[in-house]
Amino acid sequence: MSTFQAPKGTYDLTPPRSATFLAVREAIAAPLRDSGYGYIETPGFENVELFARGVGESTDIVTKEMYTLTTKGGDQLALRPEGTASVLRAALEANLHKAGNLPVKLWYSGSYYRYERPQAGRYRHFSQVGAEAIGTEDPVLDAELIILADQAYRSLGLRQFRILLNSLGDKECRPVYREALQTFLRDLDLDEETRRRIEINPLRVLDDKRADVQKQLTDAPKLRDYLCDACKAYHEEVRALLTAAGVVYEDDEKLVRGLDYYTRTTFEFVHDGLGSQSAVGGGGRYDGLSEMIGGPELPSVGWALGVDRTVLALEAEGIELDLPYATSVYAVPLGEEARRVLFGVVTGLRRAGIAADFAFGGRGLKGAMKSANRSGARYALVAGERDLAEGVVQLKDMESGEQSAVPLTEIAAELAKRLG
Ligand code: HAM
Repeated sequence: MSTFQAPKGTYDLTPPRSATFLAVREAIAAPLRDSGYGYIETPGFENVELFARGVGESTDIVTKEMYTLTTKGGDQLALRPEGTASVLRAALEANLHKAGNLPVKLWYSGSYYRYERPQAGRYRHFSQVGAEAIGTEDPVLDAELIILADQAYRSLGLRQFRILLNSLGDKECRPVYREALQTFLRDLDLDEETRRRIEINPLRVLDDKRADVQKQLTDAPKLRDYLCDACKAYHEEVRALLTAAGVVYEDDEKLVRGLDYYTRTTFEFVHDGLGSQSAVGGGGRYDGLSEMIGGPELPSVGWALGVDRTVLALEAEGIELDLPYATSVYAVPLGEEARRVLFGVVTGLRRAGIAADFAFGGRGLKGAMKSANRSGARYALVAGERDLAEGVVQLKDMESGEQSAVPLTEIAAELAKRLG
């Protein structure tokens, strides 16, 4: 292993690709901010208990994929595998739900950790931007979140994604379905591990990718036939609201999701250019999670979009975001005196809000102009001894190649004018 290698299943974000990640985070966050969601940040680790109780002790995430550690003080912690349980924990701790303004609408952006088998699009450290709306049961809220995610993806230019939608029922109807499904599954020809899963989390068996399992599942009882009237009406309302908003979705009865806290609405954004790791985002309603972690009844809904996979989706669609160069002006000093003077000019430009960079290291004109080119700056400022003696610098338009002498005292105003 080379010393300079990031740990297995992780990778670094470096320029220029890192700029796309920032832009993706921003594009997902913007519609949330504009819709009343406030920013929340929680620690990168939590007590293990929170995820065991929240995400579910029968899920792969908790049983196989969590990075857990015992501190020197004996606390059992886990690097966060997801954001929902943490955000709800933090909202409860800060009593945000008691401030009288329900739902509490929050958005977040950060790193998450899962000890998964690495492959394209699946990492052990990845990045999500998420949104949670806590404390209100209202189909309009479910629809709002799906519409905002759709809006975010469209604003990035993505088109080859699909929205899969399902309802998982509630605490009234799901247990009845669960039992019917278990009775059906117990009669099938399945391996030991799958048999165990029937008892712990039978809905996950429906998700089994193996053809010989799928073949036996054709006549499995359908959740749709077991939904209670309240869940049915709720789901119909979500569907109608999405349709009214012009958001296209597909009903997907098989969508169960990998976390235990979901009730009623669940959805996933999948991208068709990503191969097996096609889920770019997912979410749903989690009306029971607050009580599961010891809080009051707070019906809630949310989603998280994967930043890494969203960037892969952009690449799959051949979309290059229109990212303006960070640097507008690049200063090239020729000689010791010019270094001091031009650095002063650059500092002044920056203070005036003009993005400027500088040829460091006393390089010659040719090398420095190459750097100016590479920086993407629209203008270069070049000055040597003779220019300084005349009190001017050469201002070069890097696009047209035109060059003119501008008095030192007028540089900032001239550049402000030209850069608009
Ligand atoms: P999730 O479906 O587990 O949901 O993750 C959401 C997204 O995070 C996925 O669609 C995917 O894009 C990305 N993701 C997950 N695991 C990986 C990985 N190993 N490598 C790369 N990307 C990954 C949740 O996390 C829920 N907390 C979403 C939610 C919020 N539900 C309600 N509120």
